[in-house]
Amino acid sequence: MKRRDDRGVVASYIPELARVDPGAFGMAVIDADGNLFEGGDSDTAFSIQSISKVFTLTLALGMVGDMLWRRVGREPSGTPFNSIVQLESERGIPRNPFINAGAIAVTDVILSGHKPREALGEILRFMRFLTDDPTIVIDEAVAASEQRTGFRNRALANYMKSFGVLDNPVDYTLGVYFHHCAIAMSCRQLAAAGRFLAHLGRSPVTGHAVVRPERARRINALMLTCGHYDGSGEFAYRVGLPGKSGVGGGILAIAPGKASIAVWSPGLDVSGNSHLGRIALETLTRRMGWSIFGA
Ligand code: DON
Repeated sequence: MKRRDDRGVVASYIPELARVDPGAFGMAVIDADGNLFEGGDSDTAFSIQSISKVFTLTLALGMVGDMLWRRVGREPSGTPFNSIVQLESERGIPRNPFINAGAIAVTDVILSGHKPREALGEILRFMRFLTDDPTIVIDEAVAASEQRTGFRNRALANYMKSFGVLDNPVDYTLGVYFHHCAIAMSCRQLAAAGRFLAHLGRSPVTGHAVVRPERARRINALMLTCGHYDGSGEFAYRVGLPGKSGVGGGILAIAPGKASIAVWSPGLDVSGNSHLGRIALETLTRRMGWSIFGA
């Protein structure tokens, strides 16, 4: 494959993320039979950031079911991941669970009835369960870096709180949110964690049903329509798979029935999605014929 020089720009609004090597690139694919195909820095842990929102959404749906949709919508926003504009006219209800406001509302649901430490433990346990890997941890330096600089998220959370959309103290909810965004995983681990979404809700890693088939289908639908923010249309057009990006440069993509795919390249495009990661996924899906829309 042709070497690409344009790698996008590494996120710097979370200072700790700016220290990551922009030249890193890794990819891991796990097919339906559990075969692992990997390349580059596929075993290097990186900050999963917004990819964690797929797993917090799954947990929150498990806790409160469809009641979740009273607090968060299911429509693409067409706005950047950290935008506040729609919250005023839509009375504090975020458009979807993947923009920051929506993910903060989802985290608030997980936190209810628990101490922040317990809620975070629950999220981490879920990641370890999905991957069957107890070594997954939170990068405390990244979490602290975002705690110090997360003024925009603080604004979003306070704004939602003023509409009664958050139940818990804003600082508690944000603390859990910043920490789950700071979970560090490799492409290999992420691909393993996503397998339940590729296989009707059942995790072949552990043999357990994680969610019912229709819930897996719906999470995939949200990833397709909202997983890349205002870049979701472009991602669907070029890659044609449900996917979720993070500003750490990772993308988890799901080829239903076929494979769970994780890619990592820290340079981002204007929407905050991995630039090379998207190109790599586009190339892979084209060659494999994996787009959900056909060849
Ligand atoms: O809240 C934030 O801004 C980050 N913790 C996560 C944002 C993110 O990953 C956006 N994705 N591309």
